[in-house]
Amino acid sequence: MVKKNTCVFISGAGSNLEALIKNSRSYNFPINIKLIISNNKKAKGIIFAKKYLIPYKIFNMKNYLAETNILKELTVRKISLICLAGYMKILSKEFLKNYKGKIINIHPSLLPKYKGLNTFKRILKNDEKIAGCTVHYVSQDLDSGKVILKKTFKISKSDDEKSLKKKTQNLEYKAFSEAIRKIYLSN
Ligand code: GRF
Repeated sequence: MVKKNTCVFISGAGSNLEALIKNSRSYNFPINIKLIISNNKKAKGIIFAKKYLIPYKIFNMKNYLAETNILKELTVRKISLICLAGYMKILSKEFLKNYKGKIINIHPSLLPKYKGLNTFKRILKNDEKIAGCTVHYVSQDLDSGKVILKKTFKISKSDDEKSLKKKTQNLEYKAFSEAIRKIYLSN
């Protein structure tokens, strides 16, 4: 199998990144992570780039040339899939055009419900019974692109923000990889 060269964008803890790296190293997984990009030089997830010996770059997105420089980097490394794993910046319309249909994101809610931030707080406030995560293609509108897959679980009465986050993230680690398999192995 020729694995697709992939770049993962992060801003924070990088636990989804680590799950992706681990899965990508199995024999029949369709991607190879060739580059990690962070917009935050303090992102904890950068340790995984170091631990697994994957090249990484930090870009200050306040620099108006940042996206242009990222695109150059992606071209040099022949990247054909971008995974946003807790990446907290909006990518420009122009950037998205360059990677149309090739950028996917993971979100900690069952979209279209609870787009944006503070999902767990809002889910609890609304007394939802079911929670979960969504992997979707990235489009211009926040958390609105075509859904690739969703995974759900039942919220228990004792759940608080912390436990909900933990349960959701444990599901995310499976969902992201399953979505990638779905994209490439069903074609
Ligand atoms: C995940 O819950 C993801 O759904 C959201 O940001 C979080 C990132 O966590 N977009 P991590 O950096 O992968 O640990």
